[in-house]
Amino acid sequence: AKILVLHGPNLNLLGSREPDVYGRKTLADINAELAELAQAAEHELAWCQANAEHQLIERVHQARDEQVAFILINPAGYTHTSIALRDALLAVAIPFIEVHLSNVHARETFRHHSYFSDVAVGVICGFGADSYRLALSAAINQLKPAT
Ligand code: DQA
Repeated sequence: AKILVLHGPNLNLLGSREPDVYGRKTLADINAELAELAQAAEHELAWCQANAEHQLIERVHQARDEQVAFILINPAGYTHTSIALRDALLAVAIPFIEVHLSNVHARETFRHHSYFSDVAVGVICGFGADSYRLALSAAINQLKPAT
């Protein structure tokens, strides 16, 4: 099946951006690891990083046309602000997992609220780059037919 990984604003700077909070792996490192894991499970992985809200929204719309089965999304700063991105995910009705590198609950109070968590299949945060791997592994399990 097709799995889409969406990375929100500033995640293009991973590796150099606040490494004590976000780790030293680059976005390219993370995407490469995910592509390998997806391939091993015979899924097709696409990814997209955008700093602009409308680009993320349009990528979500496109996902429906492409018959994407599952989305992993780190909405980054938009986690705490974007009703429009939340609405896009609800509009296409593609199941998604919300991912964060940092433990947002252990940080500033404005990071404690997410516009995505209550409509996500699940939320993974606090494990650095491993958050994405854990989310992908959960998505792959979700895609297995129920036995
Ligand atoms: C983040 C947490 C957000 O609060 C922040 O705005 C980000 C990254 C994370 O992955 O830990 O840009 O989503």
